[in-house]
Amino acid sequence: MHTIGVIGAGQMGSGIAQTVAQHGMKVLLADIDLATAQRSVEGIDKALGKLVGRGKMEVSEAQALLGRIEAVADYAPMADADIIIEAATEKEPIKQAIFEKAGEVLSQDAILASNTSSIPITRMANYAPEAERFIGLHFFNPVPVMGLIEVIPGLATSKETEERTIAFAEGLGKQVVLSQDEPGFVVNRILLPMINEAVFVLGQSTASIEDIDKGCRLGLNHPMGPLQLADFVGLDTCLDIIMVLYNTTGDSKYRPAPLLQKYVEAGWLGRKAGKGFYDYSGEAPVPTR
Ligand code: 3HC
Repeated sequence: MHTIGVIGAGQMGSGIAQTVAQHGMKVLLADIDLATAQRSVEGIDKALGKLVGRGKMEVSEAQALLGRIEAVADYAPMADADIIIEAATEKEPIKQAIFEKAGEVLSQDAILASNTSSIPITRMANYAPEAERFIGLHFFNPVPVMGLIEVIPGLATSKETEERTIAFAEGLGKQVVLSQDEPGFVVNRILLPMINEAVFVLGQSTASIEDIDKGCRLGLNHPMGPLQLADFVGLDTCLDIIMVLYNTTGDSKYRPAPLLQKYVEAGWLGRKAGKGFYDYSGEAPVPTR
């Protein structure tokens, strides 16, 4: 059985752990401490409980899946991992510290992958023990449901690492889009300017939160409107990504909407904070403007 290390047990790390375990692999899940990683496993347990409750999964399957996920206090057990996937917050210094620490245990032929949404892979490869075995592996939220993974080789990533990573991603039942290492890769390069523009539209009072979302749901057939989706992704993450696009290209078309910055400064970070463009404290989400 393959063993996969996942570092970062938030929304994305939990989803990655669940998906990897669902495909028969063992997962070692780490975060800043054991308690945080354990809370993530409890969250996965709850998500599986819902699937069982809706008749989408057998109890035995859920138990076996959960049995393959182990919360770990540090990275030492990841010496057995074939791939270590970093899924921490979108801040380069945090990721750098993780790669340097994970690099100390990474086995001779294992791959170190980053689930970064937009930070250049070629640059971050400098923090890995070997740039040839470092690659971008970008999942989409909710990971167990979304059918895509972007694979992003850096300048120095070897062909073998690229092929093994694609095979791993396809083994998770996902389709792969191969992207060159350009800011935002493919999907976020397109998505984030759309979300940012929706916040400009809101900031200019062109339409209400509900109507902006309704417009895109009904007019474009998107499952969620851009402001709903921003809340779902996390407004801090959206701002981090748009800032990477802005700073790495220097192109003013990526300047962040002032209202997006304001929401982040207020701590209204979206669903995870209970409030973003919508307030999630009641039965149904209520717009905050
Ligand atoms: N594990 C397994 N299955 C799950 C699950 C989980 N944790 N959570 C939900 N599901 C399944 C449900 O069982 C259901 O399955 P069914 O269709 O067979 O019944 C299906 O997913 C849909 O779930 P729900 O019925 O609860 O919810 P909705 O129908 O409202 O769909 C949604 C929810 C899938 C999130 C949909 O609204 C959607 O697709 N939204 C857009 C998501 C999106 O764009 N994601 C990408 C964000 S960008 C990103 O991630 C990149 C990053 O870098 C920023």
